[in-house]
Amino acid sequence: MCGIISILSKKDDVIGDLIASLRKLEYRGYDSAGISYIDDNSVLQTIKTIGKIEVLEDLVTKNQTEGVVRPPSKPSESEFLIGDTEHRSVVQQETDYEELGRGSIGIGHTRWATHGKVSPQNAHPHTSNGVAIVHNGIIENYRELKNSLIRDNFEFDGESDSEVIAKLISNHLKNGLEFIDAFKNTIAQLSGTFAIVAIYDLAPNIIIGTKRGAPMTIGLSNDKLNFYIASDAIALSTLCDEISYLEEGDYVICEKSDQLNYRILTENWESIERDKVQNTISMADVGKNGFEDFMMKEISEEPIVIDNMITQFNCDFDISHYRSIYIIACGTSFYAGLLSKYWIEEMAGIHVDVEIASEFRYRNLVSPKDSLYVFISQSGETIDTLAAMRKANQLGLDTLSIVNVDSSSIAREAGHNLKTLAGFEIGVASTKSFIAQAMAMLMLTIKKNNLDVRIIKNIMHSILLGKDKIKVIAEKIKDSKSMLYMGRGCSYPIALEGALKMKELSYISAEGYPSGETKHGPIAMIDSNVYSIVIAPFDRYFDKTLSNTQEILARHGPVIFLTTDRAIPFIEDLENNNLADCIIFHEDAVPQENQTDELLRPLSFAMAVHLLAYYTAKAKGLDADKPRNLAKSVTVE
Ligand code: AGP
Repeated sequence: MCGIISILSKKDDVIGDLIASLRKLEYRGYDSAGISYIDDNSVLQTIKTIGKIEVLEDLVTKNQTEGVVRPPSKPSESEFLIGDTEHRSVVQQETDYEELGRGSIGIGHTRWATHGKVSPQNAHPHTSNGVAIVHNGIIENYRELKNSLIRDNFEFDGESDSEVIAKLISNHLKNGLEFIDAFKNTIAQLSGTFAIVAIYDLAPNIIIGTKRGAPMTIGLSNDKLNFYIASDAIALSTLCDEISYLEEGDYVICEKSDQLNYRILTENWESIERDKVQNTISMADVGKNGFEDFMMKEISEEPIVIDNMITQFNCDFDISHYRSIYIIACGTSFYAGLLSKYWIEEMAGIHVDVEIASEFRYRNLVSPKDSLYVFISQSGETIDTLAAMRKANQLGLDTLSIVNVDSSSIAREAGHNLKTLAGFEIGVASTKSFIAQAMAMLMLTIKKNNLDVRIIKNIMHSILLGKDKIKVIAEKIKDSKSMLYMGRGCSYPIALEGALKMKELSYISAEGYPSGETKHGPIAMIDSNVYSIVIAPFDRYFDKTLSNTQEILARHGPVIFLTTDRAIPFIEDLENNNLADCIIFHEDAVPQENQTDELLRPLSFAMAVHLLAYYTAKAKGLDADKPRNLAKSVTVE
């Protein structure tokens, strides 16, 4: 999703700080980026481009070093220098320019396209007559607002919904309102979900923002020289040790005199204080720490996440008295919920239904009151999960959230919240947070003193030791036309998770399904270009899964068979079949088999399918941290 950063500074130049914070927002997923700032001649400068932050930075540097100047006219019309390494469509108004100055107030944005194609014109910031805005979210009534502005002789550069915001503010200014009132009146006209920040070249010492349904974090830099408004705490990591999270409807206004004075106001314009909390993000959280990609770093942290959950997870919540449990989530979080269904039903004897949030939120709920509604989300901002939970809250149902990001909307609005301890997850693909979510649900199911996760840790250790074998397999499968992932019981959610990761990272079509369904359709897909990835820990289903595998091999379908050393006596013919690659992980069997081992083993295979997707992406030369079209947190429908 889009990322916002804005700075009002006592320093004479914020451009470098804007770019540095934009880089920290890259993990959210984006397709274009831009900055606006008011230079020391009080002229609004705007540079935006499609492509990566590097392209933007080159443009900024080029403008600053090669003396590209700006029109003297004031209030300046929006100026955009647009450069794009892929499309080479550099659009530049053929006018004389003054040299690009520096500036002590600016806004920046990484755009994940919703309304309007990926184009420089649709990139943010959007400007109008000296006003510049950045926006995260959706303006649902933008069409009627746009038509009204066009009737007021405003011209639009692109097709995005966000562009109306700048022009609405500009229109109120034209009608005589002061900047803050023009902003406030504009917000009152909008419907939808948004986090918006605006600056104005005739009010160069004021920055103003508001939060409605999309996250917004503020903070004063440790050196007290910059005031920040941003989409999340990561953008402010290592800059602001203390931050505050705005609540729904809040405005924040910062004005510079000899100090940076900011105030927070509610939707009804009443002053309010918001808690200052420690920004716990360290460089270790937001750095790659020597790994090539965040995704590899975060997969490698999965065993540590298990330890952290065992030792520090506070699961002060009792599920035993509920007649049934509904788990609602999206994507990988849904698969963590589906895995926990097997555990809760088997180990706690409680019926569980697992639902996709975007379906749950619109369905006519016939849901018993004596049930628990669990909402799982890494970001805590996924709009479908948030909306589903708000619906459950409105119905007076018991809601519990399992969330990885402190002070996120879902964490704050749930009846009860439990925070997972995956640490910050920068890679767009969820990896260690999946492990943390599953562990959270496991620890809700059986109390800590009955929990023995050595089998999971042992197999994960073996997987990491043997990751080069997975890398070799990735090279082998990287050009396959499509893939099938299968598993039974607790391995079925792992098959679904593996298929999603492969899709997300390598863009190869991949379908996950229960092994028992093979003959009910998927077997028609089998041919020499379709790889079947079989999740086959040695458990009660092993024989059945093995026979499904033989059925695939009999039809010349290549197979990647993931299992553990306990299966070795039973897979000799598989290992002699040149269509099958067996990857065998070692359990280093714990002295006495735990009755839970069979249920827990499959979780360790999540690391294997995460690595398989990662290495396949790398073998294809793709960006494992920022896959195309994906956002880390889907904050718009
Ligand atoms: C997982 O790799 C994806 N990035 C995606 O499916 C994700 O799990 C889903 O969007 C839910 O996100 P959340 O956990 O932040 O709610």
